[in-house]
Amino acid sequence: MEIIKHDLVIIGSGLAGLRAAIEASRFSKGKLDVAIVTKTQALRAHSVCAEGGTAGVLRVEEGDSFELHEWDTIKGSDFLADQDAVELFVRLLPSELIQLEHWGILWSRRADGRVDQRPFGGHSFPRACYAGDYTGFAEMHTLYDTLQKYDNVKIYEEWFMTSLLIEENKFKGITAIEMKSGNMHAIKAKAGIIATGGAGRIYSFTTYSHTTTGDGQAVAYRAGIPLKDMEFIQFHPTGLVPSGVLITEGARGEGGYLLNKEGERFMKRYAPKLMELAPRDIVSRSIMTEIIEGRGFKRPDGLDYVHLDISHLGREKILERLMSIREYSIRLNGIDPIYEPIPVRPAAHYTMGGIHTDTYGATPIQGLWAAGEVACVSIHGANRLGTNSTAECLVYGTLTGRAATQYALSQSSYSNVPLDSIQMEEKRVFDEVLGKEGGENPFEIKEELRNLMDKKVGIFRTESDLKEAAKEIRNLKKRFKNIKVVDKSRVYNTNIIGVLEIENMLDLAEVIAYSALARTESRGAHYRIDYPQRDDKNWLKHTLAYYTPEGPKLDYIPVRIIKWLPVERKY
Ligand code: FUM
Repeated sequence: MEIIKHDLVIIGSGLAGLRAAIEASRFSKGKLDVAIVTKTQALRAHSVCAEGGTAGVLRVEEGDSFELHEWDTIKGSDFLADQDAVELFVRLLPSELIQLEHWGILWSRRADGRVDQRPFGGHSFPRACYAGDYTGFAEMHTLYDTLQKYDNVKIYEEWFMTSLLIEENKFKGITAIEMKSGNMHAIKAKAGIIATGGAGRIYSFTTYSHTTTGDGQAVAYRAGIPLKDMEFIQFHPTGLVPSGVLITEGARGEGGYLLNKEGERFMKRYAPKLMELAPRDIVSRSIMTEIIEGRGFKRPDGLDYVHLDISHLGREKILERLMSIREYSIRLNGIDPIYEPIPVRPAAHYTMGGIHTDTYGATPIQGLWAAGEVACVSIHGANRLGTNSTAECLVYGTLTGRAATQYALSQSSYSNVPLDSIQMEEKRVFDEVLGKEGGENPFEIKEELRNLMDKKVGIFRTESDLKEAAKEIRNLKKRFKNIKVVDKSRVYNTNIIGVLEIENMLDLAEVIAYSALARTESRGAHYRIDYPQRDDKNWLKHTLAYYTPEGPKLDYIPVRIIKWLPVERKY
């Protein structure tokens, strides 16, 4: 096995990873030798799918303020966010937005040429900077272009991380499979940043790209790093039916309506003040309630839906600001939203939980940080507000990029990588997983898992469903031990990568189900029909899940309430 050496290895090439690489390069004045390891081609990271915008306080003179953004985020989180982290995040955001402007992003603009901001759910001020409805795409290209200025960054495209190398609680590097050759390599590094995104493909009806399989979280979990608050899965209210493709909340931000089959704007029953622009947990539950109570449109495959109507916004506005979702509707459904409503239902969209970090993105392992959706700082608590995600990637890409650089520069020499761990990992992957000759098809296990998660660990949860889910996931994990990997070749074997992703998904699904079962209250996106109230007395705390071969072991740590006391959430 080849051992490659870099000062800093960043795993993931989405917004957080690219932003971290730029910061490491800037901060070290190009001195740090940086690697980006990504299982996709760099610009195919899921961040390109972000549509609606990136939040930030830019218009104090028009009534916005840091305090307002903090309050919106904390109330939106159902008070599970750590308030010192939210404060830091909100205050660092404006400079990130301006920085992108200086790096040449094509923000949508007001008539006077200044950067425009649009309304988004749960934000009490229009503070989402946007580029039409392809904001993530524009941000990714801006960061990638900027990165080209630096020649100290090497990108390993289509390399799949399989393990973290850690000794005596210190980060030493990673192992990764180079897909082109099928060989496993060790990359030893003084510091690391995990920025691999979320885990939403564990669900079947989802806005996530096929690649979003929670690899960074699963690898960290198996390495002994706790995962925090994994029970909180965000369901975006408007996934296009039946594909699940994201129909941006920006459509409602621009004035779109949600209508049931009676043509009624039903949100007046659930959030009379904010209506369609209530936070996502509330809008998603409202849509599902309409569907369950028979006021949705029926489909034979069970993907019943409601309508999102933007036709009253007019052709010009749709073409200027919502061009992508129009195109998706036309291409995938044969529907032109200029004239007709779009069929939508809630879709798994975001993992609020993730790798446990401190306020600055540091994991409990010395020399290792996590940034973006893979991490749980926690800023989003039990429910993230739209546009706070791309925002988090920018802020935490910067913070972790700088911190990891400082740390790497302070380490005089590379410590040796643990050779026995590398050999064990090679054996685990190639012999124990890929050598399997059992009778189970891993991709059937994957489909069963995803359907199970939709059905039993979805928007409305009960003890009996969650118990059954936990049991069935255990069973799927047992069956996974008996899979057959059909394609044994090494060169560009996507079958191998698919199987390793399924292994990751099974571990994370188990953490989600166990954590959700244990939390006997309703908070944010975690809604227990059998415990419908928020219970601050017993549950104003973060879940930590630790890996054991028998299943997750749960522990809890307090939420940092600093400025804002929890109150009832009304919109
Ligand atoms: O609806 C959207 O455009 C999604 C935004 C987000 O998740 O932040």
